[in-house]
Amino acid sequence: MDKAKQDELKQWVGRAAADHVLKSVPEGAVVGVGTGSTVNCFIDALAPHRARYRGAVSSSLATTHRLKQHGFHVIDANDIASLPIYVDGADEIDAHGNMIKGGGGALTREKIVAAMSETFLCIADESKRVPVLGGFPLPVEVVPMALEAVSRKLIALGGTPVLRVKGDGTPLVTDNGLHILDVKGLRIDAPLALERQLNDVPGVLTVGVFALQRASLAMFATAQGVETVAYPTA
Ligand code: A5P
Repeated sequence: MDKAKQDELKQWVGRAAADHVLKSVPEGAVVGVGTGSTVNCFIDALAPHRARYRGAVSSSLATTHRLKQHGFHVIDANDIASLPIYVDGADEIDAHGNMIKGGGGALTREKIVAAMSETFLCIADESKRVPVLGGFPLPVEVVPMALEAVSRKLIALGGTPVLRVKGDGTPLVTDNGLHILDVKGLRIDAPLALERQLNDVPGVLTVGVFALQRASLAMFATAQGVETVAYPTA
């Protein structure tokens, strides 16, 4: 798919998500907002209606910046007990709503806000739908002193971890001051088990498998329009 078409699909699904929020989230509520180019379309579509909501909890510095530019009140996650909805994109999503996230580097805060939310609405163009997760390299946010130890563990699991670097070749530093390993070559047949296993590795802050915080609802932009999928709760 060419980039212009993909951008158009992101705008469609961003608008569809804003319509869904307007219909389903009561006035005065706080909305959880993810990170990435698809979510940016959602923010833009919701912006004219921002006065309807008390504000938004943001999943990254980049999203906070965009929300503020649009006049949203950005609320600290510590000041909120729960959110009715969290809207975010994904790098891959399977037929059960399990996802790989973190391509934009915001996986830790995304998982925190997702865990606070009653509904996780994933928005994506249809290219993100996969039968099995793992084609997209799995982001893992790691404490710098543990990079080598965590890498050895990931290699033992069959993956090839690569330290994420910026354009100038220096390691990317996340919003939390840590680094990201992108793990190629993992076929993730059991997302929940892998997420739990990697959560237990010392030095791993967050693994980009979202199975514990999988999507409850998804909207996929296709050439024919937006398709909505609800994932049954276990
Ligand atoms: C950000 O860290 C990611 O989890 C994003 O949600 C993901 O990369 C999707 O981004 P796009 O909407 O830009 O494809």
